[in-house]
Amino acid sequence: MDKLNILIVASEVVPFAKSGGLADVAGALPKALRALGHDVRVVMPRYYVVDKQKYALKPLEGSLGVPMGSLGEEWGSVLQSVLPQSDVPVYFIEHEGFFGRPGLYDEEGKGYEDNDRRFIFFSKAAMQLAKKLRFRPDVIHANDWHTAALPVLLNTTYAFDPDFAYTGSLLSIHNLEHQGRFPKSAMDALGIGWEHFNVNELEEYDGVNLLKGGIVHADAINAVSKKYAQEIRTREFGWGFEELIEQKAYKLHGILNGVDYEEWSPAVDSLIAQQFDIDDLSGKAVCKKALQQRFTLPQRSDVPVIGLVSRLAEQKGIGLLAEAIWKIMELDVQIVLLGAGEKWAEHFFSDVASKYPEKFGVYIGYENALSHQIEAGSGLFLMPSLFEPCGLNQIYSLRYGTLPIVRATGGLDDTIENYNAKDKSGTGFKFYDATSQALTATVKWAVHTWYEEKDDFEQLRDNAMRQRFDWKVAAEEYVSLYRSIIRGRRKQEEQI
Ligand code: ADP
Ligand code: GLC
Repeated sequence: MDKLNILIVASEVVPFAKSGGLADVAGALPKALRALGHDVRVVMPRYYVVDKQKYALKPLEGSLGVPMGSLGEEWGSVLQSVLPQSDVPVYFIEHEGFFGRPGLYDEEGKGYEDNDRRFIFFSKAAMQLAKKLRFRPDVIHANDWHTAALPVLLNTTYAFDPDFAYTGSLLSIHNLEHQGRFPKSAMDALGIGWEHFNVNELEEYDGVNLLKGGIVHADAINAVSKKYAQEIRTREFGWGFEELIEQKAYKLHGILNGVDYEEWSPAVDSLIAQQFDIDDLSGKAVCKKALQQRFTLPQRSDVPVIGLVSRLAEQKGIGLLAEAIWKIMELDVQIVLLGAGEKWAEHFFSDVASKYPEKFGVYIGYENALSHQIEAGSGLFLMPSLFEPCGLNQIYSLRYGTLPIVRATGGLDDTIENYNAKDKSGTGFKFYDATSQALTATVKWAVHTWYEEKDDFEQLRDNAMRQRFDWKVAAEEYVSLYRSIIRGRRKQEEQI
């Protein structure tokens, strides 16, 4: 069993559709697994934003019948493409009624009312597709609540299906805050029998919680960093699931995400003003100037530019930043912020920019090229998250020589080493308390280091740029986890 058949099912995948880091992971991990010799297939919905022409999507013959419990059968179709620079097949589940809409999950911040049916349909469609392709997965790898129904389906509807006789499941938790909570009518779409509607499986407060079902039924769960895997066992980070996670700790893992360095390296990045690398940082100065120009900030080379690229959500510590910002604006710094999300934050930070046009630049929206330009042109990068399962931007920042200022939580704590003036070690600046005071003090510390301890700053930058978080390493860890899942499944089957 050297070569594994792996089915990765995700609600968003780079470059086709993205709202956050899940898409980066779902676009990069499969390529790394493929490079290790495995047969990996990816399944995602065909939203309107998926550009058929650009990615040369080809229809797969025939249609896909998906039984939706007591709601009857739904019919979808399938389009096919590959992940860029690879031969990894990506299948897009097409269903006009469910996915022919402008948003992935919501519009104007309001979740679609039929998200339960949309993603239960999608999860079932992935199972039906595997059958249609005669692809017998050794492991189905589900991600977050959207596809958390998969481990449940595998143990119920498909429990005695010979096509999945030895198939195991892994559920990656990229964010425990979002759980897929729905009215109990979601059971109708699942169609697995009401005996599974109980507090030890899918029920929560008389409703259905899809993530809970996934956590209970998956053969293993992965929480995208070691620290986050620990944190979710506590009340502070458990979102009500701490006891459940504690019970399931025997199957909980914390494999850290990697980085796709083909996309996120200043030496090859075609989206930035001038490429650079650790041996020649002159391009970084050009990028800084271009960034200041883009945000109409004074083009000073001496000032530290602090970058921020983020969903504007409470998770990301935007409340702390809003409290701290006036004190930070007293410093000799520039801040550039790219983000979209909560309306109050969009208005608030736009307001700060109009009060401090020479210090604070803001772009409300989603723009991939600009996110690269901020990584490249900034000297420091801010992530004051309240919680952060892994976090990718701080890891991208390291590679661009942009020192992260982070709150020591989840993946931020695991990937950034705090500056130690004694031996000039470290790769960034950390704070522990989730308070605006701690945030302000740490920004001051970083700014002080920039101005007053230039040698140390350069040394830290050098340390940062030497760090590697290759997907290859993470993919190898996934493979050994997949193998242990498969061994466990075989044992179970033999006992039946
Ligand atoms: P999360 O998934 O919680 O949003 P991550 O740090 O894992 O956090 O990943 C966020 C990803 O989304 C990064 O690739 C980041 O560059 C990107 N991103 C976030 N907001 C924006 C934005 N407004 N414009 C462009 N890219 C963004
Ligand atoms: C989630 C988390 C983020 C993580 C990403 C990819 O969106 O909020 O911390 O990096 O998933 O795993």
